[in-house]
Amino acid sequence: MKKLAINGGTPVRNAKIHYGRQHIDDADIQAVVETLKSDLITQGPKTAEFEKALCEFTSAKHAVVLANGTAALHLACLSAGIGVGDEVITTPITFAASANCVLYCGGRPVFADINPHTYNISPQSIRDKITAKTKAIIAVDFAGQAVELHEITNICKEHNLILIEDAAHSIGTKYNGVPVGNIADMTTFSFHPVKTITGGEGGAITTNDDDLFKTLSLLRTHGITRDIELMKNVSDGPWYYEQLDLGYNYRITDFQSALLISQLQKLPAFAKRRKEIVALYNEAFSEIPEIILQKNIQESDTTAHLYIIQLDLEKLTAGRKEIFDALCAENAVPNVHYIPVYYHPYYQKLGYQRGLCPNAETLYERVLSLPLYYSLTDDDVMDVIAAVRKVIDYFRSQEMHKYK
Ligand SMILES: Cc1ncc(COP(=O)(O)O)c(C=O)c1O
Repeated sequence: MKKLAINGGTPVRNAKIHYGRQHIDDADIQAVVETLKSDLITQGPKTAEFEKALCEFTSAKHAVVLANGTAALHLACLSAGIGVGDEVITTPITFAASANCVLYCGGRPVFADINPHTYNISPQSIRDKITAKTKAIIAVDFAGQAVELHEITNICKEHNLILIEDAAHSIGTKYNGVPVGNIADMTTFSFHPVKTITGGEGGAITTNDDDLFKTLSLLRTHGITRDIELMKNVSDGPWYYEQLDLGYNYRITDFQSALLISQLQKLPAFAKRRKEIVALYNEAFSEIPEIILQKNIQESDTTAHLYIIQLDLEKLTAGRKEIFDALCAENAVPNVHYIPVYYHPYYQKLGYQRGLCPNAETLYERVLSLPLYYSLTDDDVMDVIAAVRKVIDYFRSQEMHKYK
């Protein structure tokens, strides 16, 4: 058996591969430079242009582009009317922002458990958590796979709830042939650099609802309007504007929007490559009995943001931490998505206790995210596979050796 790098052996590769990174080409840089040289570097034409492109891509009626995905979730909750006393159901297997946005509005996030095979929020668990106070659901397309939208949309109709789809991971994914962004009442996106397309930072909300669109647009810029139709008083003159609501400055710059327009044009190529890498990993890891693959529902044509493996710890002599460290030493650096949100001390302080969502908690003990991004070459992918094989072989239990 080959000695692990962590024990002084030779690593599978010399240069580190991290779990995610952006891909910026000359056309992207050119687009940013041109905008920086133009008159308006914020509140210019590029954001509206990106909104139009995003509508075309998702086939949604409206898009509101924002500073980041967290701002998108915050404004989605505000325009859904979330306030003190309201409950919003979400998953614990997500980044904290998917629940924090409810707290920003004075509401209470309620955590529903995940499906242990897809790792997305379980519709049955949503049903179990609905109370008279429930006002909305924030369903997260974890790792890029669409949630069970048919079932969740039905739950929302039955109980008169608003569906916010947190698609921070899933731009490019389709559900039953319909692009994510055109199904929920509001769909939120993030354009952080590890995501499939990036603006450095950036976010967006898509919706088909005219009223939600008006509210979101207003809240993005301080609640201020220059639209005479919306004003309460008669305009004093060309300088005049009115603040109609308590909004925020959640605008994105025009040079970020220029970058995003350029990135969106490459999304089909980005998605294709991500799918190829996922296929290579799936093929290799389906032959390793200590690894459990994430199940993909047939309705979801997934553009993956993360490649997730679950370790079957009963078949291994090491825990997730040792396997994580061993992979780092092999220079195939994984990550862990996610620590259940309610484990965080802030949430514990609010009274959430461990044990709430058993499937999510079990997943957290066993999960790793492997490198997945557009510019990984086939050789890089083979190195990651070799590193995983090497580490798993090393920690294979005696019991499993008998079967090998
Ligand atoms: C599921 C999910 N929701 C929301 C966000 C927040 O997005 P941003 O970092 O753009 O604020 C992230 C970012 O990592 C995320 O992964």
